[in-house]
Amino acid sequence: MDQQQKITDVLMVGATGTIGQLAVRVAQRHGLRPRALVRDVRRAARQLPGVDLVQGDLEDPASLRSAVRGVDAIVFTHGSGGDPRPDAREHIDYGGVRNVLSVLDGARPRVALMTSVYATRTDVPNASPWKRRSERLLRAAGLPYTIVRPGWFDHAGPTQRRLVLEQGGTIDGGIASEQIAETLVRSLLTDTALGKTFELIAEEGNEPSDWTGLFAPLKADAPHALDGALDPADLPVEAEPARLRADLTVIRTANTSGA
Ligand SMILES: NC(=O)c1ccc[n+]([C@@H]2O[C@H](COP(=O)([O-])OP(=O)(O)OC[C@H]3O[C@@H](n4cnc5c(N)ncnc54)[C@H](OP(=O)(O)O)[C@@H]3O)[C@@H](O)[C@H]2O)c1
Repeated sequence: MDQQQKITDVLMVGATGTIGQLAVRVAQRHGLRPRALVRDVRRAARQLPGVDLVQGDLEDPASLRSAVRGVDAIVFTHGSGGDPRPDAREHIDYGGVRNVLSVLDGARPRVALMTSVYATRTDVPNASPWKRRSERLLRAAGLPYTIVRPGWFDHAGPTQRRLVLEQGGTIDGGIASEQIAETLVRSLLTDTALGKTFELIAEEGNEPSDWTGLFAPLKADAPHALDGALDPADLPVEAEPARLRADLTVIRTANTSGA
C-alpha cells in the first residue's frame, strides 16, 4: 500500500451512523487512531466502546474546532436521514462539510467523503443536489481527497463482493456496508485514489486484494474543477444560489491562503 502523507489520527464524521461505526472499526484495523465526532457522548460511548470521542454538532462550526485539531485525515459518513426538517439536507449533508472545512485553520488533512451513487442524478425520485454540492466544497478546498459515491447499503448478496468503481453517474446497484467502510479507509491510504470521484457498487465475484490497482484506472478530477471527472454539466455553478457560490469562495480562500 502506498501512502505519501503519513496518516495516524483520523476524524470520523458521522461515526455513530451505519457506515460510520464500521469505518471506525476498519480504521482501527488498519492501525489508525480514529477520533469520533459525536453529538451525544453518552450514547456514543455505548455504540463505540473504547473509541476516542469528541463532542460536536455539524451545525455549530465553533463546536468543530477541537475535533479537527491535529488530525491527519477526515472521513465523512454523516447524513440527514431521520431529520424531519425539509431543509435538513442543506444543513447536514452539505452544511456539515462546509462547517468542518471552514475550521481547518490552514491544516491540510487528507479527506474521504462519502456521498451517494445518485449524487449527480436528476432522474430518480427524491434525488437531491446537496451531496453533489458538498463534493464541490471539498474540491474547492484544494485538499487531498477521494469522493466515494456508494450504491444501496447492503443490497448485495453474500457472493457479490467484487467492487465496481465507475464514473459518470450512470450505474446503480448495491454493496455491503462494510465494503463501503473499507473503501473509504483504503482511499486514505492508497495514493492512486487521490483526487478521484467514483460511484461504488458490488457485483458477483471476489473482493479486491490490490487496492492500488483498483483505484489506478479511474480518471482524476481536473485540477481546480468543482465537478467530478465525468460528471454531467447540468448544475452550472453560475446558476447556483448566491449563498452557495459565496460558500465556495470562502472555502477556497480559507484553505488556499493558509488562513
Ligand atoms: N442507505 C443507502 O442505501 C445509502 C446509499 C448511498 C448513500 N447513502 C447516504 O449515506 C449517508 C449516511 O448514511 P447512514 O445510513 O450511515 O447514516 P446514519 O446511520 O443515519 O448516520 C448519520 C450520521 O450522521 C450524524 N449526524 C447527523 N446530524 C449530525 C449533526 N448535526 N452533527 C453531528 N453528526 C450528525 C449522526 O449522528 P447521531 O448518531 O448523533 O444522529 C450519524 O452518526 C446518508 O446521507 C445517505 O443519504 C445512503
